[in-house]
Amino acid sequence: MNAIDASQGLPGQPHIAYQGEQLMVEGVRLSDLPREHGTPLFVYSKAAMLSALAAYQRGFAGRKAQICYAMKANSTLAVLQVFAEAGCGFDTVSGGELARVLAAGADPAKVIFSGVGKTRAEMKQALQVGIGCFNVESEAELDVLSEVALSLGKQAPVSLRVNPNVDAKTHPYISTGLKGNKFGIAHEDALRAYQHAARLPGLKVVGIDCHIGSQITETTPYLDAMDRVLDLVAEIEAAGIPIAHIDFGGGLGINYNGDTPPDADVLWAQLLAKLDARGYGERQIMIEPGRSLVGNAGVCLTEVLYLKPGEQKNFCIVDAAMNDLPRPAMYQAFHQIVPVYLPQGDGSGAGAVYDIVGPVCESGDWIGRDRQLQVQAGDTLAVLSAGAYCMSMASNYNTRGRAAEILVDGSQAHLIRQRESAFDTFALEQLV
Ligand code: LLP
Repeated sequence: MNAIDASQGLPGQPHIAYQGEQLMVEGVRLSDLPREHGTPLFVYSKAAMLSALAAYQRGFAGRKAQICYAMKANSTLAVLQVFAEAGCGFDTVSGGELARVLAAGADPAKVIFSGVGKTRAEMKQALQVGIGCFNVESEAELDVLSEVALSLGKQAPVSLRVNPNVDAKTHPYISTGLKGNKFGIAHEDALRAYQHAARLPGLKVVGIDCHIGSQITETTPYLDAMDRVLDLVAEIEAAGIPIAHIDFGGGLGINYNGDTPPDADVLWAQLLAKLDARGYGERQIMIEPGRSLVGNAGVCLTEVLYLKPGEQKNFCIVDAAMNDLPRPAMYQAFHQIVPVYLPQGDGSGAGAVYDIVGPVCESGDWIGRDRQLQVQAGDTLAVLSAGAYCMSMASNYNTRGRAAEILVDGSQAHLIRQRESAFDTFALEQLV
């Protein structure tokens, strides 16, 4: 259930808050936007992104550290531009992401390329633009990368993604650092893989990396992973292979529904203390945060189309669906849902309890369950914490064009992605 008390503010959303009866993103009144831009509509706060980034920057003050925004969380060009202009590097996982981030103005030397299944064409593309590092996930990939680099007369900078076998205590679909996961090279195979990499003429070993999962809300899994990775660094360097940088991945969670992840600066104060204590404080550090930089910087506006009362359930049917907001369907994820206009009544109209669902023809097409709302058709609702893994995972299922996106900067609302038309969704197809 989700009763809203506007005076309490919205958890985790410093730049997204009610002013009186109106839900605002920075200086922009959300209820004003649908008239011009329609719904579903994603709205992001630039200040929220920069303040999330600032927490990491504070944490790393005075250190040799590179923050590589994991752009899979939200890869819209103008969002990438915000982070590129703030000095970030980027973590990419496909040739498409690489092309996208370069189009947004990123410095290729600050871009890293992760992922278990890089193709030869993607390796070539990345080498040609002078990418900063490949995070390699298997010994087989080392061989192919060396071959591709040699064919271009280059040496590929590589880091091996090791799997520390640490439980990130998160949803199984977004936990990646356990033995049964497809990711990374097993701890016990890592030294052998490094020796293999060091022998290959097309590779230059530059680092080590790990990533244990996503929406992590505890510090202990990070501390454990750091210990395991530093043990390996010691072993690998003792075998004569220097490790210039250590990349601790991303994964820090956000507050969706009373979650209490540590702040990035607090987390890193603890992690850096461990790094110092183990004698690696001078090492170049890299991290790959995604969700924690953008998740709570965005909302998705959606219009209530119909209320459908029922014997067992009341349904509130909205115009956003699982193609726009796939996280509830995929991970049973919780997103707060609040009205953009919240009349300051006497509390008498408590509304009803609804399942908030979209128009897609699947029972899995729900956005929120059992939510207490006072709504009527035509109202606009805001789905909160929608800055990460929503638009970047959106699809055209049911031939629904993807939503438009707005970036708010102070009192300015910039349209950063036009709404896709039905025609756009089939423009690349042809009849036989
Ligand atoms: N680095 C690597 C190698 C990753 O695989 C990921 C995320 C990140 C960094 C960024 O993790 P973050 O800081 O965002 O937690 N779609 C799911 C999340 C999938 C995460 C995949 N990897 C969701 O909506 O919850």
